[in-house]
Amino acid sequence: MSSWPRRTMSNWRIAVVRAARLLLIAMAFAGSACKGPESIDRGAQLYTNLCQSCHQSNGTGARGLYAPLAGTPVAVGDPKEMLGWVMYGIRPVSLPRGQFAGAMPQFNFLSDADAAAVTSYVRRSFGNHALAIEPNIVAEVRAAHVDK
Ligand code: HEC
Repeated sequence: MSSWPRRTMSNWRIAVVRAARLLLIAMAFAGSACKGPESIDRGAQLYTNLCQSCHQSNGTGARGLYAPLAGTPVAVGDPKEMLGWVMYGIRPVSLPRGQFAGAMPQFNFLSDADAAAVTSYVRRSFGNHALAIEPNIVAEVRAAHVDK
């Protein structure tokens, strides 16, 4: 008889722990539904359409022709340098001329949101773990370039 309340209590505790766990999982899903997938999906889609023909689906590029994007200095480096290169072809010091025979087009026609999505996709794919780029950074780079 004396063990009954204790047992009930521990069952109840287990139920609370389970409920808390479920809640955390639900929150993780809700959180990613709010931000992640939309821009990541958009980034992936843009990458497939605009970048993949040269840089390949897994970011390996092509030896001597197209730069790889996995762990390479611009791809995981300073956001503004990366945007300067991708949008305007402003060559960062970390990408010395003459390594690749191919040429990369400029992508300044992309909206702030799209430029942010596709560069963020590169920064978070192919084993890269650089911080994502927000659209307001794209706007800053664009404004600075147009001012010149
Ligand atoms: C027509 C082929 C081509 C396309 C399309 C292309 N690139 Fe490139 N990319 C290149 C070449 C070639 C280089 C190396 C250029 C050089 O060093 O002169 C390069 C270099 C880069 C680099 C620097 C790599 C590093 O970290 O050192 C990044 C970042 C990059 N590209 C991103 C992109 C993104 C993002 C897209 C799509 C929006 C894209 N590229 C589309 C050919 C291409």
